[in-house]
Amino acid sequence: MKLGIIGLGAIAPYFLDAIERDPGLSLAAVCDLDGKKLAPWRERGLAGFTSHRKLLDAGLVDGVIITLPNDLHSDVACAAMERGVAVCCEKPLAITAADAQRVIETSHRTGSVLFTAFHRRYNRHLLDLAARLPADRTRIAQVVHRYHENIEEHTGGDLWYLDVSRCGGGCVIDNGPNALDAVRHLLGDLRLTDAAIGDVRAGTEFCAELDLVSADGVPARVELDWALPTGEIKDIVVELRDGTVLTADLLDGHDAFKSSLAHEYSGILDGFKAAIAEGRDHRDPGPDLVALVEDAYRVARRKETRLRTSAKHESVAKVVKLLFHALDDRGMTLSPWASRCVRAGEVHELLTTTDRPSSEGDRIDHVGFLGFAEFQSATVVERGDEVWLGGRRIGTVAGFDECHFPNHYNILIDVPALCTASDVNLRIGSEVNFKEASR
Ligand SMILES: NC(=O)c1ccc[n+]([C@@H]2O[C@H](COP(=O)([O-])OP(=O)(O)OC[C@H]3O[C@@H](n4cnc5c(N)ncnc54)[C@H](O)[C@@H]3O)[C@@H](O)[C@H]2O)c1
Repeated sequence: MKLGIIGLGAIAPYFLDAIERDPGLSLAAVCDLDGKKLAPWRERGLAGFTSHRKLLDAGLVDGVIITLPNDLHSDVACAAMERGVAVCCEKPLAITAADAQRVIETSHRTGSVLFTAFHRRYNRHLLDLAARLPADRTRIAQVVHRYHENIEEHTGGDLWYLDVSRCGGGCVIDNGPNALDAVRHLLGDLRLTDAAIGDVRAGTEFCAELDLVSADGVPARVELDWALPTGEIKDIVVELRDGTVLTADLLDGHDAFKSSLAHEYSGILDGFKAAIAEGRDHRDPGPDLVALVEDAYRVARRKETRLRTSAKHESVAKVVKLLFHALDDRGMTLSPWASRCVRAGEVHELLTTTDRPSSEGDRIDHVGFLGFAEFQSATVVERGDEVWLGGRRIGTVAGFDECHFPNHYNILIDVPALCTASDVNLRIGSEVNFKEASR
């Protein structure tokens, strides 16, 4: 099979080396917008093009490998398939599910093979782990896949990775497809149950946590990180229901940077050839993975919080009056508000409770009174905020009771055991700190 490669950047050499190792494949043409990258290939007598259209029009290739920035994948893949050329496209197949759908429809209409390159599914440690799993997947309690790296060590120098319009996002769309595909290889089709992103820099997230469930009901978590100081962690831990733990370090034995990619990219080309042999029967998972990524962004971006991101400054309230009593029939009511704005200088009452109120209207009877405190700066007190006293975390804000409003709010603090001012050694002038919940 005669192949062309479109995009001669950081990842292309792994394909080029894999082609050279495979006697059934030959490189017939290369393409890159940057003419300087073509020169060494032209010197070797190979056809070099600065436009993918010219490469396709030259009719030199049976298949192309697309190693371009993410936003270009779908158009170039469609252009190739329209000319009857088989496509092996780097992940993600597209940056939107609608574009991925367009690509797969073009494949169906033209009969040209579409194959998305997910290299981790060919990793020998992943394959070994898959072989060790029980055939009955319901015996698996959970799967956790860590995919951590420093993105700067993986780029080819161009900053398209950090441009949301070209990359489509950050670590979720970049590493997500390979990590999700690896878990999918172990568990089958996945559905997203939750997603969080964080460390967002100019719209690009540098960390994420994706929660999924397989069709068999097995939960899986994918942790993505672009911000390791240096190096990589790419491992999978499978916990079985009987307590057995099975692991795979995908980089074990591949000490040199990216050296695991040699056998993985040979695997991709074997997969591409197998897909061509299957022809119209080949079902490419590329669009499913783009849809999962899009789903993850939709869920994560709706969240009010971001991982690893402090969203408010810690506020201090100074105790101005102490209270020492506790009641078991106080009859307070949880207000509907999850948060309340508090101005500097306002005084509110602090109470502990063991009743665990959680829904609007819940009755609160068991109450230990701490006293009244003056907020030293304006803040937003929120359910879940941690309450600290003298370096000790005494509980978290459960919510508010408004029976004395507008004079003051009763700020209810969930605690393991009721306490009053004397139980926690509170003094006039003591500082009570309200901190956002740590994650
Ligand atoms: N770098 C990695 O570790 C890695 C790993 C797995 C997958 N990938 C995927 O491979 C793809 C390429 O990534 P990369 O890191 O090699 O990027 P890169 O920036 O190093 O290379 C992209 C190349 O495409 C060329 N190019 C840009 N626009 C072009 C156009 N219109 N026509 C022709 N050439 C054009 C650029 O000149 C550059 O040489 C991405 O989809 C990425 O997600 C990269």
